[in-house]
Amino acid sequence: MATLMNNGFILCVFLVSLMFFHAVAYDPLDPNGNITLKWDVMSWTADGYVAAVTMNNFQMYRHIMSPGWQLGWTWAKKEVIWSMVGAQATEQGDCSKFKGNIPHCCKRTPTIVDLLPGVPYNQQFQNCCKGGVVAAYGTDPAGSVSGFQVSVGLAGTTNKTVKLPKNFTLLGPGPGYTCGPAKIVPSTTFFTPDHRRKTQALMTWNVTCTYSQFLASKNPSCCVSFSSFYNETITPCPSCACGCQHKNCISSDSNLLSTVGINTPRKDNAPLLQCTRHMCPIRVHWHVKLNYKDYWRAKIAVTNFNYRLNYTQWTLVAQHPNLNNVTEVFSFDYKPLIPYQSINDTGMFYGMKYYNDLLMEAGPFGNVQSEVLLRKDPNTFTFKQGWAFPRKVYFNGDECMLPPPDSYPYLPNAATLRAQTALPSFLISAFLLALMVMW
Ligand SMILES: *[C@@H]1O[C@H](CO)[C@@H](O)[C@H](O)[C@H]1NC(C)=O
Ligand SMILES: *[C@@H]1O[C@H](CO)[C@@H](O)[C@H](O)[C@H]1NC(C)=O
Ligand SMILES: *[C@@H]1O[C@H](CO)[C@@H](O)[C@H](O)[C@H]1NC(C)=O
Ligand SMILES: *[C@@H]1O[C@H](CO)[C@@H](O)[C@H](O)[C@H]1NC(C)=O
Ligand SMILES: *[C@@H]1O[C@H](CO)[C@@H](O)[C@H](O)[C@H]1NC(C)=O
Ligand SMILES: *[C@@H]1O[C@H](CO)[C@@H](O)[C@H](O)[C@H]1NC(C)=O
Ligand SMILES: *[C@@H]1O[C@H](CO)[C@@H](O)[C@H](O)[C@H]1NC(C)=O
Ligand SMILES: *[C@@H]1O[C@H](CO)[C@@H](O)[C@H](O)[C@H]1NC(C)=O
Repeated sequence: MATLMNNGFILCVFLVSLMFFHAVAYDPLDPNGNITLKWDVMSWTADGYVAAVTMNNFQMYRHIMSPGWQLGWTWAKKEVIWSMVGAQATEQGDCSKFKGNIPHCCKRTPTIVDLLPGVPYNQQFQNCCKGGVVAAYGTDPAGSVSGFQVSVGLAGTTNKTVKLPKNFTLLGPGPGYTCGPAKIVPSTTFFTPDHRRKTQALMTWNVTCTYSQFLASKNPSCCVSFSSFYNETITPCPSCACGCQHKNCISSDSNLLSTVGINTPRKDNAPLLQCTRHMCPIRVHWHVKLNYKDYWRAKIAVTNFNYRLNYTQWTLVAQHPNLNNVTEVFSFDYKPLIPYQSINDTGMFYGMKYYNDLLMEAGPFGNVQSEVLLRKDPNTFTFKQGWAFPRKVYFNGDECMLPPPDSYPYLPNAATLRAQTALPSFLISAFLLALMVMW
């Protein structure tokens, strides 16, 4: 029996470590999410090529907010960027050995940014000039693309051997993305506007970048609090849920708040937080509001505690077993996310365009809220054991810290007792299952 238990234990440790290992660049609620860069060589030039670069954000709920993306790579040889359309390199670098025609960028590791909206027409390219802002695929597929054109040359040589750029880096706008190597893929095909003629790129390569919250920041960036109609306790966000390193916070009744420029974003995007016990820029509150015979209703409120940031096109993902039967969502848009065909327990809430898709800076307008009406499944529905609260919550693609399970508002009377006995029996059955797998 001792070895049996050991095996079960080892299996559990193995499974848990597998989960952590995966967590590095894998989001279980969006397993196919990534950002793909596609380089289509459209023509050869005397010393190089002209490529159309397309950035596709295939992530369902993670977008790139202002101040936008920054893309970098390392040239394989001594390439220079002769010119760009729809984007620019942030630094020209040392072009001193050029006479006459001066390249746009001579750096071996160029950093590219999108142009701002409103640039002259002749500097624009398809899907460019949005200040580097890219929507999530799930909320706005048409806005989830960014693009520019780059003219690359080997400065005066006639070497037609294309060496793919290496070591791609992507900031979106903060850290968190890791990009794989460029891979040659079948050339992209294009249709003429009347669809009567098909052309193709001379050569195409793709680069895939994936996001990891652990790379982005060692602390969460949001937390969750709970309340219910059946218990007056409000379960707050855990203290220091987002780390307590932002020591220079401002209390919400401070005179400093009337200072001019308090809301001006900083170049380094450093937040200015309202002082709270959790010290998170974002709090999501889930309130179990009403109980009907066949339905129940939850209220969701998102509050911004950062005085220096407006969240545009924000997204909120929740996982709850009853999201398979959402009857109505008031004042947010809603889309079920079905990462695994068999389980329909995850959905994405986001703001309605021009109504509440902007979550304003901390202050009187720094919140958005909505209610959701869910249809009960008589076999699973219960208010016991915190069942009515979400299992996972993500804001803008980052997982929020939930309160510890034993602090959830309890259903009064005998329910507490049952809640305590139910947990061990679940653990026992998980353990038995692990044993069954072993044998
Ligand atoms: C990137 O995402 C797309 C869309 O979900 C998917 O088809 C593709 O396989 C992904 N690429 C990689 C390398 O994971
Ligand atoms: C290359 O990237 C594009 C999107 O930018 C995608 O549509 C295409 O499927 C990718 N090709 C391969 C082979 O992954
Ligand atoms: C072109 O570049 C390749 C790879 O760097 C090199 O092997 C080849 O000798 C070069 N050819 C010329 C004509 O420079
Ligand atoms: C690219 O990245 C690899 C691994 O991170 C590193 O070993 C290599 O030196 C880098 N190459 C360049 C040219 O920066
Ligand atoms: C947020 O948006 C409002 C309205 O567009 C604007 O007045 C304010 O300056 C913005 N705040 C920040 C921090 O960008
Ligand atoms: C998932 O649940 C939503 C309602 O919450 C429903 O509209 C949708 O059809 C369901 N999808 C599947 C595949 O069951
Ligand atoms: C939603 O709930 C009703 C009533 O319980 C049930 O008949 C229906 O099958 C449920 N729909 C889904 C997608 O589970
Ligand atoms: C409300 O829930 C709390 C746990 O968050 C519990 O300590 C308390 O006893 C509950 N109140 C009632 C009246 O059951």
